[in-house]
Formats: sequence, structure tokens, C-alpha cells
Amino acid sequence: MKNVAFNRRQWLKQGALFTAGLAALPEVLAAPRLVLLAPESPYGLNEMTDHLRVPGIKLNANENPYGISPKARQAIMESLTDGNRYGFSKSDGEQLRAKIAEKDGVAKESVLLTAGSSEVLGMVGTYLAFSGKDRGNVVFPWPTFSLMADHFEKLGTAVVKVPLTPDKLHDLPAMLAKVNRKTKMVYICNPNNPTGTLLAPATLKAFCQQVAKDVHVMVDEAYIDFLNPPDNESMASLVATYPKLIISRTFSKIYAMAGLRVGYALAHPDTVKALEPFRHGGGLVISNTSLAAALASIQDTDFARMSKDKNAEARAYTQAELTKMGLKVVPSHGNFLYFDLAKYPSDFIKDMAQRGLMVRQWDDYGTKWGRVSIGTLPEMQAFATAMKQVMPS
Ligand SMILES: Cc1ncc(COP(=O)(O)O)c(C=O)c1O
Repeated sequence: MKNVAFNRRQWLKQGALFTAGLAALPEVLAAPRLVLLAPESPYGLNEMTDHLRVPGIKLNANENPYGISPKARQAIMESLTDGNRYGFSKSDGEQLRAKIAEKDGVAKESVLLTAGSSEVLGMVGTYLAFSGKDRGNVVFPWPTFSLMADHFEKLGTAVVKVPLTPDKLHDLPAMLAKVNRKTKMVYICNPNNPTGTLLAPATLKAFCQQVAKDVHVMVDEAYIDFLNPPDNESMASLVATYPKLIISRTFSKIYAMAGLRVGYALAHPDTVKALEPFRHGGGLVISNTSLAAALASIQDTDFARMSKDKNAEARAYTQAELTKMGLKVVPSHGNFLYFDLAKYPSDFIKDMAQRGLMVRQWDDYGTKWGRVSIGTLPEMQAFATAMKQVMPS
């Protein structure tokens, strides 16, 4: 009982702190919007509130804050009529593959639809870990999006992590130096999460052409749609020639469909065929509603442009605010910013959570870095206000 009372007291105290934080922030924070408190973070307000929904701003998962496209919403409503039918009874999947092929300049047979690009990373991981005589090794830049590396580790494949350069770029020569006869794959994340850094397409292309002759290369292009030409050149043009090159893409970011789960792989048709048996649920995991939403979204270029423009505006504002506070900020090409927290004296995640803001923190080879996802401009103004409150002067 004593323990419960203590927790309750602590909870009330934390709640008061949280409310005080809210009062200090612009109105947007007080909007009755519910988010799960720091689901990705080991920190919540305390263990009792971790699982509770509290009002706040969710800037910890690189989500698109503008909701799904109105056309996708409409398509979802219409697709509900066929909710009793399996996806293969309808043509949406095939239509979507054709639209993707047209947009990305590949053959339709090079497109493999998945439930989010996480499914691509998982499938390719399982396929490669169990290929050949042993589990081998894989080479990753570090830090990067960790899902695939974690998957390989669980399967017993050795994950070789190569630190980014001081500018937080992939260190391609150092990664190449780690490739040996047991290497099954090299992972590239461009732009990289969490740093937002970008490899120039020509540099990456030369690397893919060199490595993918012998070793699989996985290029994660989750954030490519936030780029402007010429930076937005995909490696898709190489898949017809390099069967060991696989590209992952997602509808979660520019199309704001993170909760609807649609992604895809682009690869040589033979590679697509080899990967198909590894699709979860035999390819039935993408719901009809999600397929309909993706098909509507890919055709809604106005929505994608709006997402991209608003992200660029709010990102520039946030970068300028953090720089004014004396923080080192890595120039970002994605919908998030990575900033140096070396001088932060206490628990950054907790301090921000108490002000209603969910953000992330990285231990980058012993140095502390923060990552904030780019929300709407008013959300980023609230973030800047909270940062000014928590940063030591
Ligand atoms: C680099 C990168 N790849 C893949 C994903 C997975 O996204 P999804 O499974 O929603 O497509 C994410 C999600 O944040 C990511 O940052």
C-alpha cells in the first residue's frame, strides 16, 4: 500500500510539473490531442504514466503532422465496402505496383509491395541471414535506423557498425574496408536517420556499382521524397542491372501513412521473386483500406508537395532557433533534426516530456545527441519555447 501511495504522490507531482510546463507554452500545446507518452523512449513521466495517454506533441517518430491526404481518406471510406474481400480479389495492389513503377522508372515486376518498409528490411534480413552456409556478417553505418541491424543480430548474423564521419556522413571507404568474404549485405540509409545527412547520388551510385557486383546492398530511401533535384535521384535506375541491389521505400513519411502500413521494395525481378516467399502472411498483410489509401496518395501530388514545402519551412525555422541557442545542428535533408546535447546537464527526454514534448536522444559513441521530428510550424514554435526553458544559459 505504502508503495502505491508513494507512486500516486509522485504521479500527482509529475502531473503538476507537466501542467505548469503546458501553461508556459503556446496554445497549440493545450489542444486536446492525445499521444502515447514516449512509446519509443525508456523514459516516461514515471512508470505509472508510461502507458497512459496524455496531451502533448509527438516529435519522436519522424511522422508527418499533416494527416493523410483528403483523397486517401475518401478512398479508405469507399474501400470499406469491400472489407469482406481479400486484397487479391481486387486490383488495387496491381494498380499500385503499376503507378509506383511509372513514378520510379522501373518495371512493374521490380516492385514488391509490403506492409511498410520495415517489412522489406525484415524480409531481406531473414532471406540473407539464412542464405549460404553460415549467418555471416553485415555492415552498417552507425548511428542509423536500427531496425534491420537489430533483426540481423537476433538471427545470429554479426553486425559490423562503422561510425559516421565527424560530419555525420556515411564513411563509405571505411564501410568498404569492412566487407569480407563473409559479408552478406551493406546497409545505406540515404538520407540517414537520425542525422538527416545525405550522400550525393553520384557518390552513392559509384559505391553501389562497385559493391553490388558481389555483395547485397540495401539502400533505405525512406526520406527521399523530402529532397529536391538533383539530390532526390534514387538508386532505382540500377536495379535492372544489379540483382544484389535492393531499395526500400515507404508511404509513411511524405504521404503521412505511418499507421496505415504500406511500403515497397524495388529490386531486379529475379530478386523480387526470391524475396516473395518471405513476405509475412503470404503478402496478405496490407489491408484493402491501406492499399486504396496508397493508390490515392501516390496520385495526390499536391499533398506530397505541401508536405515537403511545409516540412522545409518548419525545419529551417527549427534549425535557426536551435543555432541561436548555441547548439550544433547537423544540416538535415529529412523531416527531423539531429543536434548536439553534449552540454545538457540532466535528463533531456524527461525534461521535454514534462513540457509535453516527445523527442529522442542518442548515445553516439559516448556523445549525447537529440533528435526532434519536424511537426507543424506552431508545434516547432512550442518546441523552441520548451528548449529555451530547459537549456542551461
Ligand atoms: C530510415 C527508415 N527506414 C524505414 C523506416 C520504417 O518505416 P515504415 O515501416 O513505416 O515504412 C523508418 C521509420 O522511421 C526509417 O526512419
